Amino acid sequence: MVKMLLHSLLLLLLLDRKRNRVEGEQVGINYGRIADNLPSPSRVAKLLESIGITKVKLYDADPTVLTAFANTNVEFIAAIDNGKSIKPYLPATRITCVTVGNEILGGSQASLSANLLPAMQSVYQALVSFGLSDQVNVTTAHSLNILGSSYPPSSGAFSSDVARYIKPILNFHSKVKSPFFINAYPYFAYKADPVTVKLPYVLFEKNAGVVDSGSNLKYNNMLYAQIDSVYYAIKAMGHGDVDVRISETGWPSKGDSDEPGATPENAGKTGSTMGI
Ligand SMILES: *[C@@H]1O[C@H](CO)[C@@H](O)[C@H](O)[C@H]1NC(C)=O
Repeated sequence: MVKMLLHSLLLLLLLDRKRNRVEGEQVGINYGRIADNLPSPSRVAKLLESIGITKVKLYDADPTVLTAFANTNVEFIAAIDNGKSIKPYLPATRITCVTVGNEILGGSQASLSANLLPAMQSVYQALVSFGLSDQVNVTTAHSLNILGSSYPPSSGAFSSDVARYIKPILNFHSKVKSPFFINAYPYFAYKADPVTVKLPYVLFEKNAGVVDSGSNLKYNNMLYAQIDSVYYAIKAMGHGDVDVRISETGWPSKGDSDEPGATPENAGKTGSTMGI
């Protein structure tokens, strides 16, 4: 088990597929609150302000956090299970997006798969009833495990067991114009095959790159290749109209003996690539 993700980053990236580079890059942080000795939310607010971070993703909708960030520039993505829970904090706290469920499809919570879209729809309906649906996007965050095929990226496809849930979710995103969130960790691909997967390719260092034989696009790092495979999978379902955002990425600073490459140095390299 990865013990610590030192740089768990929220990246709001738009990938320019033709030029294979990132556009409109905005970096934020994932504010995880399951740990000892956490600084108080008001200290975190000051800290983030001092390092110029203006985007934060929460794994909850904690009142002390949302209150501490009232009347600041910080934009929030909050995790909720009903539309009411964020209403008291708006508009003083800038909550621009809510996630309903984290990595429900294709993982240990797959038994909830059929409930995911109805939960998203009910949060959306609540926001509509409060007149907030234009200010707050409704989405869910997926893990890369939802892909059955990701290499090369142009062969990207959802796995057959999640496809029937993904299709109506994509229709929802398209209809309400909200983005598709993916948690993408090149680290896990490296861990699974540290011989074939070259470290510079996953750490954004100079490397020969990998050419996708289907599209002839050359990828200089695995993160972009992973995101493109999600775009291709979405396109294969008939949706060229849904934005993909990286809701989490990062590199562990520490791991077990079967977790090569999990070092503070490598975590720092990933962090500085992202501008943190
Ligand atoms: C909601 O998501 C859409 C699609 O990615 C984006 O264009 C829009 O700016 C987002 N709205 C807010 C309030 O962030």
